[in-house]
Amino acid sequence: MSDIPPEAAPSPRDPRGSGSLPIPNDSGNTVEIPATRSSISDAAQYMHNLSFTPSTRDRRGSRNSFGTSLPIPRSPRVSRLSSVLTAGEPSVSRDILASQVQDMSKEKVAAAKNMAFAFDIDGVLAHGNDPIPPAKEALKMLNGDNELGIKIPYILLTNGGGKTEEARCEQLSQILEIPVSTDQFIQSHTPMQALAEYYDTVLVIGGDGQNIRPAAENYGFKNVVHPKDIQAWDPTICPWSHITEEERAIAKPRDFSKLKFDAILVFNDSRDYQLDFQLIIDLLLAEDGLLLTRAKDPVSSRIPLYFSQGDMVFPTDHKGPTRLTLGAFRIALEAQYKALTGIELERVVYGKPEKATYTYADEVLKSWMEQIHNENKLPQNIYMVGDNPASDIIGGNMYGWNTCLVRTGVFQGGENDPNNPANFGVFDNVLEAVKAAVRKELGQDFKFKWNPKVNPVLHGDAGSAVE
Ligand code: G3P
Ligand code: MG
Repeated sequence: MSDIPPEAAPSPRDPRGSGSLPIPNDSGNTVEIPATRSSISDAAQYMHNLSFTPSTRDRRGSRNSFGTSLPIPRSPRVSRLSSVLTAGEPSVSRDILASQVQDMSKEKVAAAKNMAFAFDIDGVLAHGNDPIPPAKEALKMLNGDNELGIKIPYILLTNGGGKTEEARCEQLSQILEIPVSTDQFIQSHTPMQALAEYYDTVLVIGGDGQNIRPAAENYGFKNVVHPKDIQAWDPTICPWSHITEEERAIAKPRDFSKLKFDAILVFNDSRDYQLDFQLIIDLLLAEDGLLLTRAKDPVSSRIPLYFSQGDMVFPTDHKGPTRLTLGAFRIALEAQYKALTGIELERVVYGKPEKATYTYADEVLKSWMEQIHNENKLPQNIYMVGDNPASDIIGGNMYGWNTCLVRTGVFQGGENDPNNPANFGVFDNVLEAVKAAVRKELGQDFKFKWNPKVNPVLHGDAGSAVE
């Protein structure tokens, strides 16, 4: 399941017959993964029946039918941030002792390298900037604080985003008090770097301030435009949004009347709904991505629109119920587009539970295995630990992973989620899930603590490690 075919299927976005639009086709450094959800707007099902009329126009495919497969990078980029990886690592003498212990326990070591975890972040490891306390212990244990002193591989797989991978990993390292490498980290827009092979000029939406700009530039997009660049060029572009002096100081205004946009990428939650809705709608209705124009046929000249994920709600540090997120913004936009044009909007949604995201996760896990164990192989027993049945769990189930649902986030229910039940079980928190999975793979008596006084020769005796 994990292997990316060397020769991906012919791209449905083949530019043949699509005029001048910059629609992706297969490229050497990317792989196109068939979409598992429809590329057609969800808005209709949420709208009153009278607000739309079925018409053959609705069923007409746009010439940029880009939504049937999602490009991901052929292989993940390995960072040069080795200092992030080694900060706070155990001492050399402990490493020597651990390797002696591991030599005496070959079967357990093989099992430890044949399992892995993919952790959701919001609602599993943290709520905003507040760590969920059992998460720290779980990650410490997987980083080597266990009877073998071995690293049990794990990656972080989040639908969050809005800044560079480096910035987010630094923040997570501080919150969770463990080293987090960008090489074990996937945020919602990370796989979307593959789109830089197809599109040069992109409008990039979402995140605090203009933090998303360096993320998009790191991905290789040649001409990254932030909504504030356009607003700095023409402050009348949106009547209800205003640019501050601080925003103007870092904006990059240009003559946008002549620039053709190739695609719109919504990487993270909008912080300015009015401005972002206006600019996205403007570009969707424009002639081949030329701002301020209006196309005669909005379907055939519409530029592609991508969202990094589709979650409706997520848990935050707010003490009340879960908060709205990117899926809510998308559905509102789809409804506006439908109301303005009578046409269902076509768009692509990356992120969990999309197969492309899990396929990319396999590649990241494989390369992480190489970094920590010098073995380029994908562990067979992968456990997704998530709090959202509609993204983490359904995605993991569809992809053939073991799934663990925790009660610290979106899911607060009873035995299991009725619609998307976790196949490995429901747990009060991430530590309980990790312990259950490790016990299943490494034995019920596995000790979740490294014993600094361990005697490698006696290892295996009850007295050689503590609980
Ligand atoms: O906006 C939703 C996102 O923050 C959820 O993140 O870590 O729960 O996938 P996560
Ligand atoms: Mg979550």
